[in-house]
Amino acid sequence: MSNLNRETVLSVHHWTDTLFSFTTTRDPGFRFQNGQFAMIGLEVEGRPLLRAYSLVSPNFEDKLEFLSIKVKDGPLTSRLQHLAVGDNIIVGRKATGTLLLDNLTPGRNLYLLGTGTGLAPFMSIVRDHESYEKFEKVILVHGCRKAGELAYADRILTEFPQDEFFGEHISRQLLYYPTVTREPFRNRGRIPELLESGKLAADIGIPQIDPRRDRVMLCGSPAFLASLRAFLEIIGMEEGSQSEAGQFVVEKAFVER
Ligand code: A2P
Repeated sequence: MSNLNRETVLSVHHWTDTLFSFTTTRDPGFRFQNGQFAMIGLEVEGRPLLRAYSLVSPNFEDKLEFLSIKVKDGPLTSRLQHLAVGDNIIVGRKATGTLLLDNLTPGRNLYLLGTGTGLAPFMSIVRDHESYEKFEKVILVHGCRKAGELAYADRILTEFPQDEFFGEHISRQLLYYPTVTREPFRNRGRIPELLESGKLAADIGIPQIDPRRDRVMLCGSPAFLASLRAFLEIIGMEEGSQSEAGQFVVEKAFVER
């Protein structure tokens, strides 16, 4: 297990019967960039069972945080959902991923668009000073079926603006837009339609998305990514990668089981 660290669970929070998050200790040697993911999991029958999980916690924190679905017969999540304080998990020593500010060309506003657990990498990116140095506004949009699945909503709205390190940036530059599709809520609808119709821009009081000036990061289900990628390409945006920066970057919200 030389490429794996063993970490201890420090807290567990169940958001709904299908969604939970937890924090763990962090090996001081574990380094990552905000927006990246690591392989994490459990030892099952003497062997590591690992899946890719984005880091919710920003890279300056001394603990790690992860957001996960719970699937009753999912090989990893059926076990992981029973984690309790003091349990161990294993965390790969190398973090990776494409949702990096460096993979985007300079721009005006940064859109962070996620569905479900696709919110996770954006939780670290909105706590990165560089996001606010590089962009005028950071627009965090989280789409879920039900309001109870809008994980971290209270923390984003009430705790983040008070934070002694990044609170000022958040108060002035972060616009948070949670949206729900399957029950009444103050904002309703799927993210691609909200962008296309101009409703999102009107609701938060910013200009419509402009492919020449705005930049986008996407993380969510394959269906969501396909819809949004198609929209962004139609309006003329090009995807960026590690080798060449672009106008948008994409990551799958990995764990489906
Ligand atoms: P909807 O309720 O209309 O399916 P899921 O839990 O299935 O991953 O969905 C999370 C959120 O993503 C839901 O609000 C869902 O809306 C939305 N969604 C699902 N598929 C798409 C898609 N192809 N384009 C945009 N949003 C989608």
